[in-house]
Amino acid sequence: MQERIIQFLKESDGYISGEEMSQRLKMSRAAIWKYMQDLRADGYEIAAVPHLGYQLVACPDKLLSYEIQSGLNTKIIGKDIVVMDMAASTMDEAFRLGMEGCSEGTVVCAEAQSKGRGRLGRAWTSPKGKGLYFSFVLRPSLPLNQLAQLTLMSAVALAEAIEGVSDLKPLIKWPNDILLDGRKLAGILTELRAESDQVKFVVVGIGLNVNTSAHQLVPGAASLKVAADRGFDRVQVFQSILRSLEKWYVKLLGHEFVLVMEEWKMRSATLKKRVRITDPTGIIEGEAVDLDEDGALLIRKDNGLIIKKTAGDVFLLR
Ligand code: BTN
Repeated sequence: MQERIIQFLKESDGYISGEEMSQRLKMSRAAIWKYMQDLRADGYEIAAVPHLGYQLVACPDKLLSYEIQSGLNTKIIGKDIVVMDMAASTMDEAFRLGMEGCSEGTVVCAEAQSKGRGRLGRAWTSPKGKGLYFSFVLRPSLPLNQLAQLTLMSAVALAEAIEGVSDLKPLIKWPNDILLDGRKLAGILTELRAESDQVKFVVVGIGLNVNTSAHQLVPGAASLKVAADRGFDRVQVFQSILRSLEKWYVKLLGHEFVLVMEEWKMRSATLKKRVRITDPTGIIEGEAVDLDEDGALLIRKDNGLIIKKTAGDVFLLR
């Protein structure tokens, strides 16, 4: 209901009377008044003038589930959204919900994380109220060896969404870093629960530096605010990402991974570059020439041999 009231307030040009709201929402004026109090407690500034009614003055810079869901119009990703003030890691929360049987597309986001984690055991710095830190649960019927598709699909969706809300042109560094001018703007972490080679569910976690100031960024990182020199409405950015994730996930489910790959290649910071890849098996150097049909990176070594990499850390050399 909060969602509908906020929508009313946002759509109304000037004041909207309690009477009109009560008729259109089919509830008493006392109930409307109570909702207004709740919204104020959530940080909304709402003016109330006798004989005129209510007017929305300012929205809080907070992630509120009904704000995120208002006008979102997705069918899978974000149908259920859990918002936390603080989480150790939204990955753990999403895993818990996944184990409890939550519906596909359930999103958990947090205003801050105390133990945000990245790939390869790294930490993900998550200052309060500055970024988007969220995880979502997917239940695709993909074999284990095709799960890289989800990471590439998420990277494409994220880059596209960022471009949709800014003038920025982010690139993707294989497999899952979103870069702006060589600096890391966002990262994606994919973890899964499998039983005897069957994927039970997958949790995809995304960390995006939105309104993070320069002094709050770790070396080599970027934020939308620093790059564009203006602040961003995090809810708007979040909605754009969720819609884009849904669009690309639906393509993937429709066996159109080839479209994901085409888009990924167009946005790639890695292909046609000389790279060095490290993983537990060692280091290899060569030219990143292509992706294979599962999303693995193909590298041509100096001796001409093509090596396929499904995981690892990429350094762009030139
Ligand atoms: C990486 O680039 O190494 C991946 C970073 C992923 C960070 C996000 S923030 C939300 C979710 N919760 C976590 O603990 N990690 C992911």
